[in-house]
Amino acid sequence: MKNQKYQVVIEDFLPKAQVLKLWKMLGMELIDLNVACPDNYHSNKGQFHWRGGVLIFHSAAKLLISTNEILTGIKKLNNQFSAINRQPMAKAFGLKNRGGNNWVLDGTLGLGKDYFLARSFGFDVLGVEKSDLCLGLISTATLEGDKIPDSSFYFNDTISLIERSIKNSSNHLLFDEELLVSISKNSLAHESLELFNKIHSTMPTVVYLDPMYDEKNDSALPSKAMQILRKELGVGHESDFDKLFTLSLKIALNRVVIKRSIKSKVKFEEKFSFSIFGKSTRYDVYLKN
Ligand SMILES: C[S@@+](CC[C@H](N)C(=O)[O-])C[C@H]1O[C@@H](n2cnc3c(N)ncnc32)[C@H](O)[C@@H]1O
Repeated sequence: MKNQKYQVVIEDFLPKAQVLKLWKMLGMELIDLNVACPDNYHSNKGQFHWRGGVLIFHSAAKLLISTNEILTGIKKLNNQFSAINRQPMAKAFGLKNRGGNNWVLDGTLGLGKDYFLARSFGFDVLGVEKSDLCLGLISTATLEGDKIPDSSFYFNDTISLIERSIKNSSNHLLFDEELLVSISKNSLAHESLELFNKIHSTMPTVVYLDPMYDEKNDSALPSKAMQILRKELGVGHESDFDKLFTLSLKIALNRVVIKRSIKSKVKFEEKFSFSIFGKSTRYDVYLKN
C-alpha cells in the first residue's frame, strides 16, 4: 500500500467520533485550527479540509473535490429508475447472482460510483480500495450523508488480500478486521451484517475491476475526479493490474468482470467469454468453467 499520509485541517467543529476513527485508521494527520495553527499547516501535497460538515480535498494541482459532490452522485444513482434487465452492469454481473449467498467484490472501489450502482441493482457488494484519498472521501461521504444505503469497504490492496487468502488455502477471503469499514445507519444495520456473514463464509461470486488506464475516456468517473485520481495516485499506480486480474480469476466463484472503454482492445483474450456494451463503456466478462 502506498504510504501517502494526508493532513486533515479541521476548520470549525469536530466531526462525529466514527469519522475521526476512520481518519485515524487511514493514518491521516489531524490539524485542529481551533486549538492552534501548527507550523506544518500548509502542505505542498494534497490536503483535506473539514469545514461545515463537508470534507474537501484540495489537490496539489489546485483541483477540489468534496464529499458533497460524491453524495450528490450517489443520491442520483439511488433515485434513478430503470429496468434492471436493460442495465449493462447488471447483465454483466449476471442477474441470477443477486441474493442468496452471492456477493460481489469491487476490487477497485475508487470514489464508489460503480459500487453504489451495483447496490442499486440489488447486489451485495464489498468495495476494496488501496488509496487513503479515495477511501477517506467515500467513507466520510457515506458516514455523513442522509439516506445513503449501508456500505461496506475494506482499506487494502486487493492483490495482498487475495494472495494472503490463497496462501492460507482459505475458502473465503482473510480480512484484517481493523481495516473493514461497515457503515450502517441504525435500522438498516442488518444489511451489513448479512454481507459480513457472507464474506466470512464464501469467496465472491463476482469480482469487478475498473482499472484506471492512462488513456482518455476510459472511465465513467466524472473527468474532474478522474484527473484528481490520476494526478494524486500517479501513473503506474495500477501497473500490477494483470496480476490483479489473474488472482481475481482464481478466487471468483462465477466470473470476473472488467469495465473498459468501448474502444479499448480486448485483453486476456484467451480467457474471454463475452462483452456487454453500454453507451461509452464495455463490460468484459470472464466466466469460470
Ligand atoms: C478507475 S478507479 C475506479 C473507479 C470506480 N469504479 C468508481 O466508480 O468510482 C480505479 C481505482 O482502483 C484502485 N485500485 C487499483 N488497483 C488496486 C488494488 N490492487 N487494490 C485496491 N484498489 C486498487 C485505485 O486506487 C483507484 O482508486
